[in-house]
Amino acid sequence: MIQLIRGFKDILPTEAALWQHIETTARGLFEDFGFSEIRPPVMERTELFKRSIGEETDIVEKEMYTFPDRDGDLITLRPEATASIVRAYIQHKLYAVDPVQKLFTIGPMFRRERPQKGRYRQFYQINAEVFGLDSPWIDAQLIFLASVLFQRLAVRDVAVHVNSLGCPACRPVFRENLIAYLSGRQEHLCENCRRRSTRNPLRVLDCKVPACREAVADAPAITDYLCGECRVHFETVQTALGDQQVAFKIDKRLVRGLDYYNRTTFEILAGALGAQNAVAGGGRYNGLVEMLGGPPQPGIGFAVGFDRLVEITPLKAADFQKPPVLFVAALGDQAMAKAYPWTAELSLCGIRTELDLTGKNLKGLMKRADRLGATYVIILGENELAAGKAMLRDMTTKAQQEIELSNVVTAIQEIIKAKSAPRE
Ligand code: HAM
Repeated sequence: MIQLIRGFKDILPTEAALWQHIETTARGLFEDFGFSEIRPPVMERTELFKRSIGEETDIVEKEMYTFPDRDGDLITLRPEATASIVRAYIQHKLYAVDPVQKLFTIGPMFRRERPQKGRYRQFYQINAEVFGLDSPWIDAQLIFLASVLFQRLAVRDVAVHVNSLGCPACRPVFRENLIAYLSGRQEHLCENCRRRSTRNPLRVLDCKVPACREAVADAPAITDYLCGECRVHFETVQTALGDQQVAFKIDKRLVRGLDYYNRTTFEILAGALGAQNAVAGGGRYNGLVEMLGGPPQPGIGFAVGFDRLVEITPLKAADFQKPPVLFVAALGDQAMAKAYPWTAELSLCGIRTELDLTGKNLKGLMKRADRLGATYVIILGENELAAGKAMLRDMTTKAQQEIELSNVVTAIQEIIKAKSAPRE
């Protein structure tokens, strides 16, 4: 039997109801805050990710699914959505209509990481990006939105970590100091970090190797090097978060695994997740739009790891499943021919109807109706057919009533409507 590829997974029908609920919750929240949906493709030219995420990141160096297309072009299954959304913002000149664009997208991403709990090679992200705004209030609003999403999904035990990575005016001084610090600690660093310590020293702060973590424990903190503007920006973000009672922690090690960030960066960590504890991450990326060939518009965004969110929400898929309201047990060919058209009519009216086509006997059908969790079963056998009536059984109260076949669609609709109507 052909099995799934390692690191990939199926989202089964029993789980999909919860995924849908999360998606609906996220969509509703984004839309209420003025976001519109964008759906970029899952494949892009490799160059797009190399230039935006950065050549010397784990993602680009070792995690991308990259291959030559039949015509020789190098293409990559997207490891994240930000680069594609920036490309779309530029390519379709979305800025010409209004530089301020608030966009969200929900979909699969691909990274060839070592699979483990909470880490997949195809995973899903709920992604939000805002273009055209330099204001620190939007930074805070995005962090607020992510935390509201967790609240609405009953996720507790999450910690918001924030940092500022400065800007091209202040980061170079920090960078020089960090390089000097790292040069004295080469023998403690892993091979990757030794290589990166002069070319991309911020990456060393992000390394997960324990020896490297220890080696950078006393490294200079970027927040001590912020220029006046970056400091005011960061302080306003903190004030706004405080105003909205979003608890947060300043984490001077938070540099993120992608190179495009500056100023505000943040991650949301969940205790319940274990080693892969980041359930969301994001930050500001002023300069990226311009670097990819667009106008000098700022950007900021975040992505929530959908799979990880599913793992930590206490909500259960079973609570969102939609069992049939009506199960139709038509016994014999004649009954089936009679039931077939009005069953479809009821489905078209929005009543979840399951016309059983298994050919089982009455006992078998009742068992199946029970297993599916149907609210009502309507039985149409030879006797009922002869009498011009069907028998409707309420599966909760076990009460039965006869329904005239001449008026079956309207009668059932009324009964179901009366049951679901709120009591006065
Ligand atoms: P990221 O931190 O690489 O950021 O990913 C965001 C979230 O995606 C992570 O916090 C995690 O929950 C989830 N995630 C990442 N890799 C995996 C994996 N292999 N398996 C399961 N979940 C995973 C970004 O991707 C940025 N594009 C976020 C962003 C948007 N920054 C600005 N705008």
